[in-house]
Amino acid sequence: MERCRTETLRLLHRIPPTLGDRQWHPDFSPIDWHFGHIAFTEALWLLPEQERQQFHGPAYQKLFRADGLPKAQRCALPDRDTIEQYLGDVRAAVERVWQSAPYPWDQEKTRLWWWLLQHEVQHSETISFLSHLAGIDLGVNSQTPGDECPEPVLEATIVPIPAGGFYQGSEQIWAQDNERPAHWVEVEQFWLDKYPVTQAQYQQFIDAGGYQQSKYWTEAGWQWRSRDNVTAPLYWHRESNTQDHPVYGVSAYEAEAYAHFIGKRLPTEQEWERAARWSGQHNSSTYPWGEALPSSERCNFNNHHGGTTPVDYYDQGRNQGGCYDLLGNVWEWTASTFKPYDNFQPYPYRGYSQAYFDGEHRVMRGGSWATRSWGLRASFRNWYHPWTRQVLVGFRCAS
Ligand code: AVJ
Ligand code: FE
Repeated sequence: MERCRTETLRLLHRIPPTLGDRQWHPDFSPIDWHFGHIAFTEALWLLPEQERQQFHGPAYQKLFRADGLPKAQRCALPDRDTIEQYLGDVRAAVERVWQSAPYPWDQEKTRLWWWLLQHEVQHSETISFLSHLAGIDLGVNSQTPGDECPEPVLEATIVPIPAGGFYQGSEQIWAQDNERPAHWVEVEQFWLDKYPVTQAQYQQFIDAGGYQQSKYWTEAGWQWRSRDNVTAPLYWHRESNTQDHPVYGVSAYEAEAYAHFIGKRLPTEQEWERAARWSGQHNSSTYPWGEALPSSERCNFNNHHGGTTPVDYYDQGRNQGGCYDLLGNVWEWTASTFKPYDNFQPYPYRGYSQAYFDGEHRVMRGGSWATRSWGLRASFRNWYHPWTRQVLVGFRCAS
């Protein structure tokens, strides 16, 4: 928790206070709101009611609750120092309470701490994404040495993923409610692209008039593209030296249209997870490479580069079939609607996952360059509306 907070505060200190209270994206709250919400949520779950009251006055109840004010009305925020103080005060109270708590902690409490840690991690990632929109330079975090990007050698490549079974989901103590329960899944043989779709590849779709031809698009996708008159991904730059980096800023509709254009499709989340858990060691590993914790030799995460990297860079992060970048670099859209696994139990509240099982949200997998270590694993599920375009989200194709 301490290490996580140190990184969160480093993030906070990189953001000019004057940019903290503006809404940079209609679907997301201002940056400073997220910091306040992290503290509010920590008080909500880790403090007994009596200790909590001082941190949950009526104004903060209204402002920082996840289901309080509409996002567009969250710009009237306390100033930056007050928010930083709030983070520190809640944490001090939590430490006080827990120092006198009876040991050993029970499983349920431990799980709550793990949930809260990941709550902070996920909001940090949103903060990174919003900072990018705001043009803020977040700098890069330190990493292990030897990380100069070599010249790319990209062969066109698809990888056969053999038919087989694996345990989808997780029951490790840190697993989110939507990853549970772990269950056995059999997947047919399929082909998965070795790399996420690159900017150079996506350029071909644009150049071929992909945005002008409804035949590549699903019906919902074509409606979306026509209504908003979309002609390129968000943040798209034609002249760039990142041709071998993944394309990002695409909606699920654009991802599907590109896939159809080249005669492929998006993987289902079962297929994706099957591939991402298929290591040299076994079929249900925690990471594509096995059980070793994520490191800067294996994937692009935790702001080590402050952006995307070439898709063929992390050869030590490959799965057994040779797929790169399954974790880190960009989130990957899947073909799957966000749904509960059988026997799902909401935790720690219905609004965390259950509220999004409305058939309107699409699963993304794999984590991004801004995902911190605690949110990076093959079973982790993220979700957005298919029309959301985000700097941290790209895709890979299957067939
Ligand atoms: C899983 C990233 C979609 O940020 O909206 C944070 C995570 N839920 N606080 C989000 C979340 C409650 C959620 N996403
Ligand atoms: Fe939250």
